[in-house]
Amino acid sequence: MQDFIFHNPTKIIFGKDSVNQLGSYAAAIGSKALLVYGQNSIKSTGLYDRIIKDLNNKHISFVEHGGVKPNPVLSHARKGAKKALENQCDYIIAVGGGSVIDEAKAIAASVGSQKDIWDFFTMQSPITKALPLISVLTVPATGSEMNGNMVITNDETHDKLGLGNALLYPAISILDPVLTFTIPLKYTAYAAVDIVSHLTESYFNNNGGWTILQQYYVEGMVKTVIEAMDKLLNHPQDFDARATFMWAATMGWNGLNTAGLGAFQMICHTLEHPISAVYDIAHGAGLSIVTPAWLKTVINNKTAKIARFAREVFDVKENDDLKAAEQGIRFLEAWYTKIGAPTTFKQAGIDNPDLSRLTELTIKAARLRNMTELTETSVMDIYKKCL
Ligand code: NZQ
Ligand code: ZN
Repeated sequence: MQDFIFHNPTKIIFGKDSVNQLGSYAAAIGSKALLVYGQNSIKSTGLYDRIIKDLNNKHISFVEHGGVKPNPVLSHARKGAKKALENQCDYIIAVGGGSVIDEAKAIAASVGSQKDIWDFFTMQSPITKALPLISVLTVPATGSEMNGNMVITNDETHDKLGLGNALLYPAISILDPVLTFTIPLKYTAYAAVDIVSHLTESYFNNNGGWTILQQYYVEGMVKTVIEAMDKLLNHPQDFDARATFMWAATMGWNGLNTAGLGAFQMICHTLEHPISAVYDIAHGAGLSIVTPAWLKTVINNKTAKIARFAREVFDVKENDDLKAAEQGIRFLEAWYTKIGAPTTFKQAGIDNPDLSRLTELTIKAARLRNMTELTETSVMDIYKKCL
């Protein structure tokens, strides 16, 4: 166990119909909100009407910034920051998945610190202040609802970069599992892949020694996601399964599983981000493509860790570590396939991926974040395994 400071300031309002409390909480935070949301789902599900009615009933003043794309882009976030400044918004309400919450965070930081959003990502400017944020989560996957991270794609260059800052934690996060009943199973599967990846990046990549607490935490959480996903495949509107899935997503990337592990690198995420940036596929779909390929590449260096994962999560009985690790990777791939997540570029509809471009973008991001494990040769090798 390594030394750590854990401080997660986000207040969680969890439960059936908890979205009805949005107006009451918003009233206490500021006087004028920027209401950030995505493209269609909020309106097609009826959530938009419900929220507008609630905000109006509570006399909440707000300006709308809709149309956030999945894999949110810099140009749209900049427009949001301009709108918030022009309308003197003093807090943000984000209603949507990780993309909406991430764009809301970028706007909050830009307005608070009075800097251009991309300057934060390229380390040209620090985030010194951010507007307070309330989020209503509609896709549990990224953990953005209870962490200080955001990921934005520069739509001119296709650089997709992540950034963490303590000022970016939402002040209040409303988690209403009923809002997730409408997520298509295909996207629920991508979300499941993402949750598992958040848990396993630190599990496979830390150098923390005897980390039994974190290992059991991760293994238990991964098994939970697999069980909840299994249930949802047959009963997409099962409240307990949706609720379990939602809380697992939040608990999977809110700092708890990584506390005590020391530094670790987000290898699969760094390999994935250029794929969703260039080909605009879902982040989780990109992760199910790169993760088996990466595991096969590092199997000889991480044999014991992968073997443990295979035995604890997939109940592999094999005594030999290497064989157990190989079986574990096969089980993981089979799980992806079973739930409908792609394991090759082709399955994701990318027939001729530009591997050189993807490698270039990955290496650029890795250098910017001082990541040492990925080299041009190793990255190209992993992408070739994804064909
Ligand atoms: O745009 P609309 O029409 O709302 O549709 C969305 C979108 O197409 C739809 N949707 C949202 N709520 C729904 C719904 N459909 C039906 N019913 C509902 N209740 O779902 C689609 C996906 O939404 P999105 O927000 O893009 O998904 P997700 O939550 O997976 O977010 C992905 C983004 O987060 C980044 C990813 O890279 C990607 O850009 N990440 C952010 C992280 C963080 N902040 O900590 C960490 C992650 O590793 C990740 O990189
Ligand atoms: Zn992720």
